[in-house]
Amino acid sequence: MFADALQRWPWPEDCTLPDVSPFTFTLDGGGRHLIQTVLQNRTNSIFAEFGTFMGGAARTWLSNNIGLRYVCVDPWGDDITDYVKSLSNVDWAARAYKTSYLEEIAELLSRYGPLRLVQNNLASFKDRCVLIRGRIPAAYSEMRSAGLVPDIIYIDALKRHEDFVEAHKIFPNAIITGDDWNWGIQADGAYPIRPYVEEIARERNGQIYADRATFVISEPRHELQFDDKWRYMSQSSA
Ligand SMILES: C[S@@+](CC[C@H](N)C(=O)[O-])C[C@H]1O[C@@H](n2cnc3c(N)ncnc32)[C@H](O)[C@@H]1O
Repeated sequence: MFADALQRWPWPEDCTLPDVSPFTFTLDGGGRHLIQTVLQNRTNSIFAEFGTFMGGAARTWLSNNIGLRYVCVDPWGDDITDYVKSLSNVDWAARAYKTSYLEEIAELLSRYGPLRLVQNNLASFKDRCVLIRGRIPAAYSEMRSAGLVPDIIYIDALKRHEDFVEAHKIFPNAIITGDDWNWGIQADGAYPIRPYVEEIARERNGQIYADRATFVISEPRHELQFDDKWRYMSQSSA
């Protein structure tokens, strides 16, 4: 199945940039140890990251999990360049990265565009990584039609209801995880993506484990083990 995907979404001949060293630049809001717990339990699995950005999380998880096969999905559009340029004015990003580093990446993005940079960042993993330039939810159906069915899904894109629910429907057996758990708190204390994740967890008889930005829906059939301190109790059941 993965060999077919490597043929269907081939790497270009010139996938490296001789004058740019691969870099690990990721928007990590915390709690990714939960994903590593899943990966340790699922060696040799197929992991799909929807919203891959510069491939920083992919580089980390591919390096730390040698049997892992990885699907990166992202439109890699021009808006990423504008976004990175704007990050030096955002508090959390300025705390995580020096302004000069952000400017350097923005400059590389302007020069090469996001796709060439992400290819360069992930080229050393090209035997077990495919890059799909596309948008969810359409990309879910494209993958399924091609027979590329992930064991684990990590959603880190636009935070829309359809992105979560369609992943659940199209990949009914995948372990569903993602980012943005603590993103966008509203005046009433609600968080935008939590109802979507809770909806899926209910339908799958699953329990949510979460830490800062990261969540995992753990279902009995998946037999995952997490420390109970990460178990999420929703407002209604607390
Ligand atoms: C917050 S960033 C992802 C960060 C990345 N996962 C990391 O850990 O570094 C969001 C990404 O979602 C991508 N994106 C936007 N719309 C999308 C869509 N419909 N489908 C997939 N990715 C999308 C953007 O291009 C951007 O790269």
